[in-house]
Amino acid sequence: MFSTKKITIAIDGYSSCGKSTLAKALAQQLGYVFIDSGAMYRGVTLFAIQEGIIQQGEVNEQKLLAKLNEISLGFKFNPVSQHSDLYLNNMNVEHIIRQPEVASYVSKIAAISQVRAKLVHEQQVMGKSGGIVMDGRDIGTVVFPNAEVKFFVTALPEIRAERRFKELREKGNNTISLEEVKSNLILRDELDSTRTESPLVKAEDAFLIDTSTLSREEQLHLALQEIEKRLF
Ligand code: CDP
Repeated sequence: MFSTKKITIAIDGYSSCGKSTLAKALAQQLGYVFIDSGAMYRGVTLFAIQEGIIQQGEVNEQKLLAKLNEISLGFKFNPVSQHSDLYLNNMNVEHIIRQPEVASYVSKIAAISQVRAKLVHEQQVMGKSGGIVMDGRDIGTVVFPNAEVKFFVTALPEIRAERRFKELREKGNNTISLEEVKSNLILRDELDSTRTESPLVKAEDAFLIDTSTLSREEQLHLALQEIEKRLF
């Protein structure tokens, strides 16, 4: 169906809009590597929490920058989930980085330009040979501005909040309410879209997908159709 040339697919969009679900499905379908760039920002945030760099809700930027080179992030394939897990300094942190506490600070950490410079560089190295689907906020605009195919994914905030709430419940988190999940998503969208450094914006050449009323199969089908159109 597709050419043998391994292309780069960039997927950006709002919190919990189905980006990672789409990226994983595309990578599986095409035999590509999937990289969740958000996991890396979550990994730096977890490090900051563990090191006491965040106190009373404030990030001590100087302290974080002084320790930035102590942070080593990597992905390792997990044969059980069939996806890659994030490792922070050789510890598997895939589950802990999804916790609401990490989500509540990650956008502050992601707004720091030196943090972005480090992670963008690592992401570019991971994708240098193509054959990659990466999702995030600045993939089509900053990390891979020359990606052959770009998607910008969105969905109504109520639907996104319900999806994330359900996901957290399924993972055993019973302490957070739907309202709290929704406020976190809205706050992160606001911080991510208005920050000075690489704000979340749709790349001009990105194809817009609104997943509000689409099933997983439908969004995958739509994306595959678009890839085919752009490549041939
Ligand atoms: O899964 P969800 O859509 O909620 O978020 P994520 O992809 O795990 O990303 C978490 C946070 O990391 C975002 O809210 C952004 O603040 C930041 N991020 C970013 O700034 N740039 C990226 N390329 C990816 C994530």
